[in-house]
Amino acid sequence: MRSVLITGANRGIGLALARQYATEGARIFACCRDPDGADKLRELTASSGGRLQMVQLDVADERSIASLKSTVGDQPIDILINNAGISGLSADRIEAAGYIATMRVNALAPMLVAQTLRENLTNSTEKKLVAITSIMGSISTAGGGKYAYRASKAALNNGMRGLSRDWARDGILVALLNPGWVQTEMVSGQTAYISAEECARGLIQQIAALTPATSGVFQDYRGVRIRW
Ligand SMILES: NC(=O)c1ccc[n+]([C@@H]2O[C@H](COP(=O)([O-])OP(=O)(O)OC[C@H]3O[C@@H](n4cnc5c(N)ncnc54)[C@H](OP(=O)(O)O)[C@@H]3O)[C@@H](O)[C@H]2O)c1
Repeated sequence: MRSVLITGANRGIGLALARQYATEGARIFACCRDPDGADKLRELTASSGGRLQMVQLDVADERSIASLKSTVGDQPIDILINNAGISGLSADRIEAAGYIATMRVNALAPMLVAQTLRENLTNSTEKKLVAITSIMGSISTAGGGKYAYRASKAALNNGMRGLSRDWARDGILVALLNPGWVQTEMVSGQTAYISAEECARGLIQQIAALTPATSGVFQDYRGVRIRW
């Protein structure tokens, strides 16, 4: 049975991914910061026939990442999806604490989670490491504003691109996927153009289509290549 781990699975794109992989019959580690407050994820867990397991994970906390490893043990993970992210506490201002927090969650945490679960990936059948990034991480198309968020996603892209080269020797494939402009809490109040469900369908298709040729390539949820 395919095994999938998703960070930030309690709402938005992460929850939609968990729902669709559950429908496909996968075994799912659904990670979230606050399992007690994750009502929709708990409902999904209850209807999953024991295939979905909720796991507490704050990606900004290294002890929490270590505890995730204790929970997962040496079980193989076919698809590891680094989805948890924040839009940037400092928004359009340049403010140290917010900037660092954004870098920590969006850029550093996916690298730490990947390193912590590297053996679980290596020992799986599919060996797919996924980062949900953003078009805002593209340097060549960058506009102004949202400095911390843009910088964090550019750093995420660069780090994951490096892993796609270095971990290829273990057969690990890395997907760097921009989800599009999606109707979630992150962009509430804006006119995002696709639902989380449509986005998740596209992401799952791209993850299924991932090959050594597309590993480490910056793409969107439809498979369209994005300039760095
Ligand atoms: N929506 C878009 O248009 C869009 C566009 C480009 C990229 N993205 C990316 O897509 C991903 C998912 O975003 P979304 O749109 O689904 O946003 P969302 O609805 O705001 O969900 C964000 C998720 O990340 C989790 N999270 C934040 N900080 C965390 C932490 N320290 N530890 C663990 N989980 C944490 C949140 O958990 P809590 O509920 O505990 O806060 C939540 O589950 C993000 O990486 C985002 O940058 C989104």
